[in-house]
Amino acid sequence: MHSKAKTVAETVRTCSEVKICSHIDADGIAAAGIASHALDGIGVDYSVVFVKNLDEKVVEDLKDENKELVWFTDLGSGSLEMLSGMDAVITDHHVPSFVNQDRIPEVNPHRVGRDGSLDISGAGAAYLVAVALEKANKDLAALAILGAVGDMQDQANLRLVGTNRTIMEDGLRAGVLDWRTDARFFGRETRPLVKLLQYANDPLISGLSGDWNACKEFLFSLGLQLRKDKGFRSWVDLNPWEKDRILSELRKIVLASGQGPDAADRLMGEVYLFPKEEQGTELHEAKEFATLLNSCGRYEKAEVGFALCRGDREEALDSAMMLLKGHRGALVSSLRVANEVGIERLEHIQYFHGGSRILDSVIGITAGMLLGSGDLDNSVPLFAFANSDEGVKVSARGTRELVAKGLDLSSVMKTACERFEGVGGGHNIAAGATIPNGSEEEFLELANEIVGNQMEKAPI
Ligand code: C5P
Ligand code: C5P
Ligand code: ZN
Repeated sequence: MHSKAKTVAETVRTCSEVKICSHIDADGIAAAGIASHALDGIGVDYSVVFVKNLDEKVVEDLKDENKELVWFTDLGSGSLEMLSGMDAVITDHHVPSFVNQDRIPEVNPHRVGRDGSLDISGAGAAYLVAVALEKANKDLAALAILGAVGDMQDQANLRLVGTNRTIMEDGLRAGVLDWRTDARFFGRETRPLVKLLQYANDPLISGLSGDWNACKEFLFSLGLQLRKDKGFRSWVDLNPWEKDRILSELRKIVLASGQGPDAADRLMGEVYLFPKEEQGTELHEAKEFATLLNSCGRYEKAEVGFALCRGDREEALDSAMMLLKGHRGALVSSLRVANEVGIERLEHIQYFHGGSRILDSVIGITAGMLLGSGDLDNSVPLFAFANSDEGVKVSARGTRELVAKGLDLSSVMKTACERFEGVGGGHNIAAGATIPNGSEEEFLELANEIVGNQMEKAPI
């Protein structure tokens, strides 16, 4: 990947202006942030466009602009055939669609036999090019790790692995990144303790998850002080003894509920911190910062998240905080709609259709949250539909266990898209596509069959 990064860097260096085309999610926004900083460093002008995915229309528009070079970040490898004849470079980690016949300079872990859902993110791939351009760009390692965490690359092993760890070391040395093993709850820095526990769902804590009163009682019963001078204490306000006390009790509860030691082990893991940001804010920890970026990109405000990645802590931060409130509301409402319409089951998959009541840009997050919520049978993957301007958006989510048994959702999407002339792809554990209106039933039949075959082939 380093030698590919050098090739991309040399191509970029010869340009006077570059168009960056990136994905609207946290990883895509962080990747564009990295690419823009790197271009600033070598005095190359740039403009940026954020897209939900690369379809014919986006590619045609880019071709019409006739730019000197388009730098695709966090996308591109899955759409190589469309990019033929374009002056382009790619830094991506999605499963590639074809051999790179046009020899477009491309950094992608899959090309060197690595797993793109774990080893490095789109932001990480852009980072390798940034460093190939200038060693001083190692301070962009924080954004690269932000992208990896945004894509949940730490979930499988409770820590980042592979190339991501090399990037972490760069970040530590540059003084922009730190990490520690601690509770993995979302909102360690910003949520009051009761709320932190109430929303804990990985693992589910029987009798506490989802129940505000029970969480409050539980913390009281341990003799914990919930308030501080101003407001409520959060996880990072606790001393080590208080943390140990809570975690050992939670561990007992998880084990007693029969979820087994592997589930209990998921209470703790590596958390990634940005020491240059203010502690106690949404910017200081990677999972929270990534959610802030998603709150922008998923609502057609990727440029606000991009400004945050470029260092704006004034106007962009205010806007992002407003968008975060909207994002929370949208997720609550999307989960409610999913429960209302109900999850249907076929032999090898399950699905629901959010119609026009769930935004196509958050249908994937909704599916991921549902599958991880513990309320759902997670022995088969979940497919979720939502109407979109271009047709029907479908998002699929699996689990680590299913992937280990042979599930590959990226391949499901690719095969189905060939049949329906849709666009899609992704990773083994999470993939998406847009298919023509009305093709849902046929799509489901095909997906059911492909998933069935994938699992059958799995070694026992
Ligand atoms: O397009 P991109 O590669 O950036 O997005 C990866 C997607 O996969 C994210 O939406 C992320 O939430 C999802 N994912 C998941 N579960 C995992 C790993 C990734 O839902 N364990
Ligand atoms: O959109 P969703 O969150 O379901 O996307 C899951 C994964 O599939 C992401 O990595 C996304 O980039 C990828 N995807 C894709 N092509 C699409 C839709 C999603 O490669 N048309
Ligand atoms: Zn990504």
